[in-house]
Amino acid sequence: MSVLSDSVAVVTGASSGIGHATAVELAKHNVKVVVCARRADRLESLVKEILDAGGHALAFPCDVTDRSQVEGAIEKTIATFGRIDSIINNAGVMPISRIEDLHVDAWERMVDVNIKGVLYGIAAVLPQMMRQGSGHIINVSSVAGRRVFPGGSVYCATKWAVHALSEGLRAEMASKNIRVTIIAPGIVRTELAEHVRDDGTKDRIQTMLREGEPLESVDIAHAVLYAMQSPAHVGINEILVRPTSQEP
Ligand SMILES: NC(=O)c1ccc[n+]([C@@H]2O[C@H](COP(=O)([O-])OP(=O)(O)OC[C@H]3O[C@@H](n4cnc5c(N)ncnc54)[C@H](OP(=O)(O)O)[C@@H]3O)[C@@H](O)[C@H]2O)c1
Repeated sequence: MSVLSDSVAVVTGASSGIGHATAVELAKHNVKVVVCARRADRLESLVKEILDAGGHALAFPCDVTDRSQVEGAIEKTIATFGRIDSIINNAGVMPISRIEDLHVDAWERMVDVNIKGVLYGIAAVLPQMMRQGSGHIINVSSVAGRRVFPGGSVYCATKWAVHALSEGLRAEMASKNIRVTIIAPGIVRTELAEHVRDDGTKDRIQTMLREGEPLESVDIAHAVLYAMQSPAHVGINEILVRPTSQEP
């Protein structure tokens, strides 16, 4: 019997990569998992995979850049289960390029998904968690939220923002029994790198993925589980996980 049994968790960005793996691992611990992302077909196959394995899952597709869609998904979760124990704000994009290339549309997308998407998730669950007197908000940042690299300025800025807002929220929620955790992965083999705009950076990341030994999504899912399974009085504030072979 897992300490997480029958708890209710929402995972955003669950249609691929880290979010997908996290949903699968949570379901193995008898968590009732609500999966969100835009690609509804992928969410449906994930739900089927979890149900076939004897777990419990529901898909509420949503675009995290649309506040009303995020609120709708959380309202449906509360209507179905009556509570929300945790949210993993994981949806993110990384169409990185050098600032001088002025891909302003891509900057806006990163701000909208990586910062506003996280804020909308927090805003949607917080009233319910305050009513319950408990909850756990887990925000997926990155090593890029701790260091800045050329070509990654805007992406890094969004992840630094996730660190800052998570730390502020953690301190504000300390007296309310609501835990806040930052998960900061190094390089993980997922679809994320496919959207890099700058060819030089894309080649560098693809080489690192090919020739290094990157993390797999399940490695990050295990970090999420570690934070969630810790006793209620233990707040895991931040977990930074790099591949052993990653230098910067
Ligand atoms: N891979 C890495 O090396 C790495 C390293 C550090 C941090 N991270 C972070 O880890 C998180 C997950 O990324 P990943 O590596 O697993 O990449 P991924 O496989 O590309 O997954 C990204 C997820 O975000 C969702 N998403 C994107 N835009 C969305 C939107 N507007 N509304 C709702 N969902 C949206 C995608 O689903 P849809 O397209 O179906 O909406 C997808 O499920 C991100 O926050 C990323 O910054 C990744």
